[in-house]
Amino acid sequence: MKKLNVAVIGLGSRGSFMLPLLSIMENYNIVSVCDKYADRVDAGAAAVEKETGKAPAKFTDWEKCLDEKPEAVLIMTGWEDHLPVAFEAMRRGIAVGCEVGGAYSVQDCFDLIRVQKETGTPFMLLENCCYGRYEMLVMNMISLGLFGEIISCEGGYRHDLRTEVLYGRENRHYRLENYKHRNCENYPTHDLGPIAQILDINKSNRFTALTSFATKSAGLNDYARLHDNVDKELDDYKFEQGDVIKTIIECKNGQLVTLTLDTTLPRPYSRNFTVQGTRGMYCEDGNYIYLDRDHNEFMHFEWSKHWNNAEEYLKEYDHPVWKKFVADGVKGGHGGMDYLVYNEFAECMLNGKPFPITIYDAAAWMAVTPLSATSIKERRTVEFPDFTK
Ligand SMILES: NC(=O)c1ccc[n+]([C@@H]2O[C@H](COP(=O)([O-])OP(=O)(O)OC[C@H]3O[C@@H](n4cnc5c(N)ncnc54)[C@H](O)[C@@H]3O)[C@@H](O)[C@H]2O)c1
Repeated sequence: MKKLNVAVIGLGSRGSFMLPLLSIMENYNIVSVCDKYADRVDAGAAAVEKETGKAPAKFTDWEKCLDEKPEAVLIMTGWEDHLPVAFEAMRRGIAVGCEVGGAYSVQDCFDLIRVQKETGTPFMLLENCCYGRYEMLVMNMISLGLFGEIISCEGGYRHDLRTEVLYGRENRHYRLENYKHRNCENYPTHDLGPIAQILDINKSNRFTALTSFATKSAGLNDYARLHDNVDKELDDYKFEQGDVIKTIIECKNGQLVTLTLDTTLPRPYSRNFTVQGTRGMYCEDGNYIYLDRDHNEFMHFEWSKHWNNAEEYLKEYDHPVWKKFVADGVKGGHGGMDYLVYNEFAECMLNGKPFPITIYDAAAWMAVTPLSATSIKERRTVEFPDFTK
């Protein structure tokens, strides 16, 4: 079977987690690994060699890594390095699979489209949550008309990352500097990606305006003060990033999307995925489906009995991609969606198929971050650019 020759740049948490999976995937051949830190390069190369018996080339300089001309580069660095590496790779004709994160400016999002169009080099944002089983169940049920017309969607990135942020110096993790100096919806694409696909954004629909609000920042300082191992300089450090960011996005076709970023207070993980149409809805928190066809308003007294009923709907409406994936044997992290998105990237590249996540999608989803920063700072609603123009 033909394999895609790839370089992997960025071997921190995500990169080191993904290398063993990519090494055993039949459509990838990891030719080189790269990180600023030599110890991470050595560990990454050893992980690939353990699975494949073949050691990849090792680099601490990403430009030298690109000099080797892999067919594609998988970018798993912190957010700030995504686009500089992607732009240079595209200019050299090296296809890009880019891990997720928000942009640093709206101009960067326009530049992303411009560089991709000028070079003609493929670029795909590797948004694994577009391949989540329940996200895809809902997409399938919507395509069958079971939810009616979709009117309102909610999503969130609600993940207690206090230790990831506060031990950023010890773990050489990029989030710490971001939380010190930015106040924005810094991680919009996990929740927004599937919602944008459901709402046909950048096709028949588009985002038109956005408003964000931020709470104060208190969670990180409180945690730091209570834990002796945390860098004591952070006890009273004035973090820019608010604990909770709420964003409302208006759509041309009359829907609203509400996003919540919630990463520095105690709570269980949730992407808050909620989709409400004229005939039914899905809600991740409680994992339930409510359909006019099967339910009625008097059931709310005993609704907790229906929590988790989405599992029952899988029997009939599981997305075809997932039916096949389950039959073949689910592989990879995050419940299988990592495998699915990386597999899609490789299959599109090897078979000349268009990516399901377009360059316009990447630009619009990533633009939420700088737009939210402006909205919070200037206390106003901001126009959402039409990236497809
Ligand atoms: N899709 C998912 O589910 C998922 C999950 C976790 C992280 N991520 C994404 O993966 C990326 C990395 O996250 P992480 O938690 O692994 O961060 P991390 O800080 O642990 O790792 C990033 C690595 O990139 C390296 N790096 C940064 N700039 C570089 C450069 N110019 N050249 C070479 N190496 C460079 C750093 O040295 C570090 O080792 C982020 O974009 C994050 O959003 C995605």
